[in-house]
Amino acid sequence: MHSEATPENLRTYYEDPALLRDRQRTYAVPLSGKGFVEWVLDHIELGAVRDVLDAGAGVGRFALPVAHRLAGTPARVVATDLFGGMLETIAEAAAEQGLPVETQVADIQALPFGADGFDLVLANHVLYHLPDIDRGVRELARVTRPSGTLVATTNADDIPVAVIDLHRAALERIGFAAEPEEPSTFSLRNGERVLRRAYHDVRLHTFRDHQVFPDAAALVSAYRTTGRFRAASRRTEIDETGLVEAAEQVAAESVDRQGGGLISPIVMGAFLCTGPRR
Ligand SMILES: C[S@@+](CC[C@H](N)C(=O)[O-])C[C@H]1O[C@@H](n2cnc3c(N)ncnc32)[C@H](O)[C@@H]1O
Repeated sequence: MHSEATPENLRTYYEDPALLRDRQRTYAVPLSGKGFVEWVLDHIELGAVRDVLDAGAGVGRFALPVAHRLAGTPARVVATDLFGGMLETIAEAAAEQGLPVETQVADIQALPFGADGFDLVLANHVLYHLPDIDRGVRELARVTRPSGTLVATTNADDIPVAVIDLHRAALERIGFAAEPEEPSTFSLRNGERVLRRAYHDVRLHTFRDHQVFPDAAALVSAYRTTGRFRAASRRTEIDETGLVEAAEQVAAESVDRQGGGLISPIVMGAFLCTGPRR
């Protein structure tokens, strides 16, 4: 998958936390095995962890389960994001669940924390959004204790993604060329190279699953949660109803071709980084 949001359209994607939650719900039911979040957390040694930073925490997909796993220990979890709306969602959920999660608006490229403050730093599905990724990764390394770990998750950028294919085909059907996909600045392919500039040891764990769309309606509904759809339907020259109708037609044709449903591969991964460079 490619990076969806550029620095210019980031607000369209993340201003409203409900949209990110809907988007992430479309990945909530994988074909097999456990979900991605639990899979990632199972790779992390939480025993000695006291201070956790979730940078670019979104609606708390990781911050809240980490806080759950650390419940009953003296650990604290700090969730940060560029958008305050995301953090309000986390704070409400943490209060409801009785979890000690602190929140603070912060840009990963200029973290408002002293050096060596965290044993565990998370930067999940976010680094490809940074205008200056090297600066962001250096900041993450600066706040990681020498004995600490950074976990940075991302997508593969070289497999077909059903909702992206649908987006391009639907736009073309109503007479618009889909915008060219920028290569991701942080994918499973190039992530290690980026992270090694700030950490001595970087290991990739790859997660493979499938997303099942039982019918065309499910595929269109997942497409409508994407930032690509929102950005396209905000363009004055594009009629949103026409785009949705085109998506419905294209989805129905794809589903028919596949004999009634659609299975889309999901390939994501987690880089575990230790030895922050000083
Ligand atoms: C795809 S969401 C991922 C959220 C969460 N880490 C997860 O895995 O569910 C990306 C998040 O990064 C945030 N973000 C984007 N650029 C950022 C930056 N420079 N600093 C901090 N957060 C940023 C967005 O607001 C959004 O909440």
